[in-house]
Amino acid sequence: MSAVTVFNVNGHDGIVAALQSLPATRGECVVRHFPDGESYVRVLSDVAGQHTVILCGLEYPDEKCLPLLFLSRALRERGAVSVGLVAPYLSYMRQDKRFHEGEALTSKHFARLLSDHLDWLVTIDPHLHRYHAMHEVYTIPAQALHAAPLLAGWCHTLGDAFLVGPDAESEQWVKALAEPAGLPYVIASKQRHGDRDVVISLPDTAHLVGKTPVLIDDVISSGMTMRVTLGVLRERGFTGMRVACVHALLAEGAEQGLRDAGATELVSVNTIVHGSNHIDAGALVAQAVKQQLAELQ
Ligand code: R5P
Repeated sequence: MSAVTVFNVNGHDGIVAALQSLPATRGECVVRHFPDGESYVRVLSDVAGQHTVILCGLEYPDEKCLPLLFLSRALRERGAVSVGLVAPYLSYMRQDKRFHEGEALTSKHFARLLSDHLDWLVTIDPHLHRYHAMHEVYTIPAQALHAAPLLAGWCHTLGDAFLVGPDAESEQWVKALAEPAGLPYVIASKQRHGDRDVVISLPDTAHLVGKTPVLIDDVISSGMTMRVTLGVLRERGFTGMRVACVHALLAEGAEQGLRDAGATELVSVNTIVHGSNHIDAGALVAQAVKQQLAELQ
């Protein structure tokens, strides 16, 4: 196989370390913004005849997307034979239908943009809710990895706990984690009235009194879903609540909000670099990238 060079664009040191086992070398590039906000991109490594992998989380995507597309062009201009993307967090998957007439279906438009510039894509737990598979959205080979087996290992360490899924969408997750760990679970129902306005109804928890609630979701963004759920549990007398997610997007104020609402611990997978990253997805990603590169041969 041709040599492989990995460009770590925004600080995923844990995952890039695992990718070096491919084997791959680390590429050097400059990606920055001019004072007026325009992007500057320069590839410093020689990539002629090589497969290249861009490792670029796409949380807060609008400022990252243009530099990413420019980098993919620059790599090809420097002679790379392929350009793949590892986006541990893949944005724009939640606008998976037109909730209101006239809305842009951004999941599809974003997918079109990336598909036009890249040869393949690997991501972790994209928001596949109304879509069931990546090929419904992406036209390039796009692989969705699942962090559940990684979180499952953590769930085995929880002791006398019960899991809480904050909305119907989380049930698939929570059930898959709770059952192998022998933990009971409850699923709340959520009504969203706005970006930061959610109402949570929790089923009866009387049989769980004395156990520690562990709230689990794929994404924590504003944190309101978790905050309101924590509030309901606190009103019912529960304490010591723990919160876990795959993608700690954590918009401004979200982390403090979770603590104020009674969370004693926040645990996340390292798809978005954050101090709560206690679960490493590096080996999982490296395996998938190996597969994508093998398929290019
Ligand atoms: C929704 O479908 C997701 O699974 C999360 O529940 C949601 O994105 C969390 O958002 P927030 O933290 O803003 O309530």
